[in-house]
Amino acid sequence: MVQLKTAAEIEAMRPACQVAANTLVMIEPYIKPGITTDEINQLVHDYTLKQGGIPAPLNYRGFPKSVCTSVNHVVCHGIPDKKKLKDGDIINVDVTTIIDGWHGDTSKTFYVGKPKVRAQKLTEVAREALQIGIDVVKPGATLGDIGYAIQSFVEKNRFSVVREYCGHGIGRVFHEDPQVVHFGKQGEGMVIKEGMVFTIEPMVNVGKHPVKVLNDGWTVVTRDRGLSAQFEHTIAVRKDGAEILTLPTTKG
Ligand code: MF3
Ligand code: CO
Ligand code: CO
Repeated sequence: MVQLKTAAEIEAMRPACQVAANTLVMIEPYIKPGITTDEINQLVHDYTLKQGGIPAPLNYRGFPKSVCTSVNHVVCHGIPDKKKLKDGDIINVDVTTIIDGWHGDTSKTFYVGKPKVRAQKLTEVAREALQIGIDVVKPGATLGDIGYAIQSFVEKNRFSVVREYCGHGIGRVFHEDPQVVHFGKQGEGMVIKEGMVFTIEPMVNVGKHPVKVLNDGWTVVTRDRGLSAQFEHTIAVRKDGAEILTLPTTKG
C-alpha cells in the first residue's frame, strides 16, 4: 500500500531531508586517506544530533552504527570500523536522518584522494544514472520507466545494475511501499502519482550484477569483488515532475 503524502506532509519531511543532505556536505572535506570509517560515523552521529536529528540507521533492525560506509567492492550497508581509507578508494556514505518522526535518505560516492580511471568512470555513471532516473519521474509515468532509463544508461556504459536492493517509499517509515527497482521495462510497474515520496538509489557495478551478504549480516559485496558505486536522493512527485528533497542548503 502506497501512502500518498499531502503538500503539508511533504513540507514536514523537508527538515529531515535537508539535514541528511547537509550531512554529506559536512563530511566531504573529511574524506581523505587515513580517516577511518568509525571516525566518519562519529562525525555524522554528532552532526545529526547537533542539527536536532536522529541517525536512522543506529539500531535499525540491529544495524550497529549511525551511517553506512561502503568502500570499493562493498555495494551498500557497509558497517563503519577501524579500517583507514587509502588513496584511490571510493566510498559511499549513506545518511538517513529522522526529524519530528520524518525520514530523509541520501547518499553519495566520494573519491578518496585521486581516483583511478575506472573508479572515476563508474562513479560518474552512477551519479548520472540517478539523475536520469529522477528525470523520468512525473505523474502518469511508471516505476518501470525509471528502471528502464537507469538500466539502459548503465548497460550502454558496459556496467551493471544491482537487482537485490532498490529504492523505496519513505516518510514516517524508513522503508515503505513502493519498491523502486533500478531495472525494468518501459510502461511496466506501478503508475507514479502526485504525492508519492520515494528514494531512487541505483547501485552500479564495474563487473557483473550479483551480490552477496557477508557473515556480519549487513555488508553487501559484489560476488566478483569488482567496484560498486551508488547515489541516492529522496524525491517527492509533484504535478510537473520530481522535486528532489535531499538537496543541501549549506555550502562546503
Ligand atoms: N540508507 C539505506 C537505504 O538507502 C538503508 C540502510 S539500513 C541500515 O535504504 F540499517 F543499514 F542503516
Ligand atoms: Co534508501
Ligand atoms: Co540510504
